[in-house]
Amino acid sequence: MALKLDDLDLGTVLLSPMAGVTDAVYRRLCRRMGADAVYTEFVSSDGIIRNNERTLEMLEFAEEERPIGIQIFGGDPQVVSEAARESWSLGPDLIDINFGCPARKVTKKMAGCAILQDLGLYREVIAAVVGAVDGPVTVKIRAGWDESRLVYLDAARIAAEEGARAVALHPRTRAQGYSGRADWDRITRLVSESPIPVIGNGDLFEPTDVKEMLERTGCAAVMVARGAIGNPWIFGRTQAYLKTGVVPPEPSPRERLELALEHARHSIEQKGEPRGLREMRRHVSNYTRGLWCSSRLRQAIYTIESMKPLRELVEEYLEALEGHERGSGAAFRPTVLLGEAVGARKRSEGTARRGGGRSARTGRGAGKTPGTPLRTGGGIRHAGYPS
Ligand SMILES: Cc1cc2nc3c(=O)[nH]c(=O)nc-3n(C[C@H](O)[C@H](O)[C@H](O)COP(=O)(O)O)c2cc1C
Repeated sequence: MALKLDDLDLGTVLLSPMAGVTDAVYRRLCRRMGADAVYTEFVSSDGIIRNNERTLEMLEFAEEERPIGIQIFGGDPQVVSEAARESWSLGPDLIDINFGCPARKVTKKMAGCAILQDLGLYREVIAAVVGAVDGPVTVKIRAGWDESRLVYLDAARIAAEEGARAVALHPRTRAQGYSGRADWDRITRLVSESPIPVIGNGDLFEPTDVKEMLERTGCAAVMVARGAIGNPWIFGRTQAYLKTGVVPPEPSPRERLELALEHARHSIEQKGEPRGLREMRRHVSNYTRGLWCSSRLRQAIYTIESMKPLRELVEEYLEALEGHERGSGAAFRPTVLLGEAVGARKRSEGTARRGGGRSARTGRGAGKTPGTPLRTGGGIRHAGYPS
């Protein structure tokens, strides 16, 4: 199974668009590791036509990322069409329109998933983009706004009528957020009724999930989102499984951390220090997920702002891990956090002597200690886009 739009072969296992995650660095990594095609993060049409610098940066891509789709969003057909024209002039392989974003800051402007409540507007936006672009246009939708307004079947039909070439379905509603399980039966139903090819999406975390979705629903291709954060291996492992029926082993801790370092290095090259490193941290919890003492490691990574100490921390961790595997019994105590703990103790002694500082009983003032890690890894898997 593979998704072909005329001469454009998008393959079977695609990297789903993810705000704050699928930047150029990560897309390149995922293509190298087996993703058949990639998408940019969703890009604001308003930002594009206003030439907002950060927005335009999100449209940049390299040749080795192809096939690549630029995904745009917006609720004003005129603006979205101008943004599509400008995006298309940069030479991507397709333009995708986002009708799935559930985040309030997007839906309150009648964009993203909110447009599924007004199928007239939805039609206009697609028609405007198809009219502006001399190449394939696709759409990405949720099942609907809520269970009483499931519109995915109509939405696919309308998209086809207006000239869109494929539809990607995340079969949850806006009201569901990310709760429960994605109902793949909706994908099956869409495949049987949609006039255009369907890309299945939702809850693909293992190579076996991908095969099951392809077989159960008959979709032309799949898009992997959360399962690929900090885990680009999912693409190569899935491709191998689809070919041979054998699931390759998970990467070793060393492989994971070496790739995390490479990711950080490319991020810094692209965006400078410390921004590159800060942005890359969104992936960290998944690069280290399930590893021994990983919460300490993540906590330490969140205090680091440049490449050299990051490399040292990773080496320190891998040494400690080897000791642990030999049965040393010692826990991992990152030097960078020990330094902070001493610093924090001295500071709190200082403030206590002055009669100020944090109340031990109420904890008020906690989190304001300079150098306290801003956040640990918990919860960052969903940063940025979903509400
Ligand atoms: C951090 C994050 C950012 C996302 N950003 C986008 C986006 O920019 N555009 C989009 O169409 N979907 C976005 N999504 C939704 C995913 O592409 C995907 O549809 C959804 O997560 C379900 O797939 P999954 O179960 O494989 O995660 C985002 C999801 C996550 C977790």
